Amino acid sequence: MLRKSHCKNKKIIIGVTGGIAAYKIPQLVRLLKKEGAEVQVVLTEAAKTFVTPETLAVLSEKPALSQFFKSNQGEWNNHVHLGLWADAIIIAPAGANTLAKMAHGLCDNLLMSVILSARCPLFVAPAMDLDMWLHPSTQSNVNTLQQRGVHIIEPTEGELASGLSGKGRMAEPEDLFQGLEQHFQPTENFFLNKRVLITAGGTQEAIDPVRFIGNHSTGKMGFAIAEQLVNLGATVELVYGSVTQTPPIGCHHHHTLSAIEMKTKCEELFPTCDVLIMAAAVADYHIKDVAQEKIKKSSDSLTLELVKNPDILKELSDHKKPNQITIGFALETNNEEFHALEKLQKKNLHCIVLNSLQNPQAGFAKDTNEVTVFCNDGSSFNIPAQEKSKVAESLLNNLSKWLTKQNPS
Ligand code: PMT
Repeated sequence: MLRKSHCKNKKIIIGVTGGIAAYKIPQLVRLLKKEGAEVQVVLTEAAKTFVTPETLAVLSEKPALSQFFKSNQGEWNNHVHLGLWADAIIIAPAGANTLAKMAHGLCDNLLMSVILSARCPLFVAPAMDLDMWLHPSTQSNVNTLQQRGVHIIEPTEGELASGLSGKGRMAEPEDLFQGLEQHFQPTENFFLNKRVLITAGGTQEAIDPVRFIGNHSTGKMGFAIAEQLVNLGATVELVYGSVTQTPPIGCHHHHTLSAIEMKTKCEELFPTCDVLIMAAAVADYHIKDVAQEKIKKSSDSLTLELVKNPDILKELSDHKKPNQITIGFALETNNEEFHALEKLQKKNLHCIVLNSLQNPQAGFAKDTNEVTVFCNDGSSFNIPAQEKSKVAESLLNNLSKWLTKQNPS
C-alpha cells in the first residue's frame, strides 16, 4: 500500500525570487500537487525573468501572484489573508537580497508582505554564487533567520551559474519536498502509555511544630509537565511538596512535605515507572534535631544544625533498570551550563533541564520559563521564554523525539 503524504491537504505558499534556480520550481509545485497539497505561488518581479507566472499558475491550478492589486478596479491580493492561510511558506530560490530583506523586515513587494504577515513555519532554500553565500553579511542574515526559528534548507555544492564551482546551488525540488514532508510528519509520542513519575513544588524541612525551612517553588512548572503528560496519554504519578496551585486532574496525586517523605514516596513508585522527571525543588539539608515543642524566643541567637538530605534523583538514577529514563532539573544562578552539565553527569541522568534565576522570565513562581535541555549524548536544545504550559509542551515534544531516537522500538 502506498504511504499517504504528510503534505496532503496542507496549504503551502511557494515564494519564488529572482535566480536561475527558479526554473526548478515548477517541479516542486508538481510534486506537492501530486501529493494532495494546496499550492499558492507568490513570485517577485525578478523571478519572472526565470520562470513564467503562467507555467506556475497552470501547475498549481491557482493564479501565481506578484502584485498587490488584481486589476485596475482596486481588487487586491490580501497579503494578510495569504499569510494566515498557509500551513507553511517556502521561499525557493531565496537570493541574498531576499534573505537580507527577511532578516531586516523590509517590505517592498507582495511576497515580503506575505512573509511578514505569516504565523506559520517558514522554510528558506538559499541559492546564489559561492562568494555571496559565504559573505559575512549573508551568513549573519542566515543566522538571524535561524535564531528566529526559520528553517534553512542549506544550498548544495556543485557547478554554479557563474561558471564557478562551490556551495550555493539550491537544494533539488525533491529535497525541498522532503523537508516539508518531514516537517508535517506527526511527532513521535514516546510518552503514550508510559508510566511517568514526576515531582513538583518545594520541600519543607521542619524546625519545630510551627516553622520550617522551605523555598519559593510553587509547583507551576512540574504541574504543567504533569498536565501535558496526561494529554500525551501517559499514566502520571505526581508527587508534590509545598505548592500554591491545585494539582492537575488526570494524575495520581501523592502529597509529601519533607525531602525524606518525598524520597520514600518516589522509591515506592519508581520501580514500576518508565520515566522519572524531577521538577521539585528539594532541600539539600534538614534540621538535625527537630524541636518537639514550639521554640521560644528566649535567647538573642539561635543555632540550627543542618544535616544533608539524600539526593533523591541521584539515588533513583544510580539504581535504575536499563530501560528506565531519568530526567532532572537544574536551577542555577551562575555558571549555569557548567553546573547543569556537572549534575547531568554526577546524577547519572539521561537529560537535565536548566533554568536560570538570572533570567527574569524563568524560575520560581513565574508564569513563564526558559529552559535549555542537555542530553547525555552531548546534544542540547533550547526552549525560549514562554508560558510554562507551552514550555512543558515543547519540552515533552523535544524529549519525545530524542528518546525515540535513543530507544527505537
Ligand atoms: O515550581 P515553580 O515555582 O514553577 O518553579 C519551578 C522550578 C524552578 C522549581 C523548577 O523549574 C526547577 O528548576 N526545579 C529544580 C530545582 C532544584 O532543586 O534544582 P537543583 O539544581 O537544586 O537540583 C537538581 C536536581 O536534583 C533537581 O531535579 C532536584 O529535584 C533534584 N534533587 C535535588 C536535591 C535533592 N536532595 N534531591 C534531589 O532529587
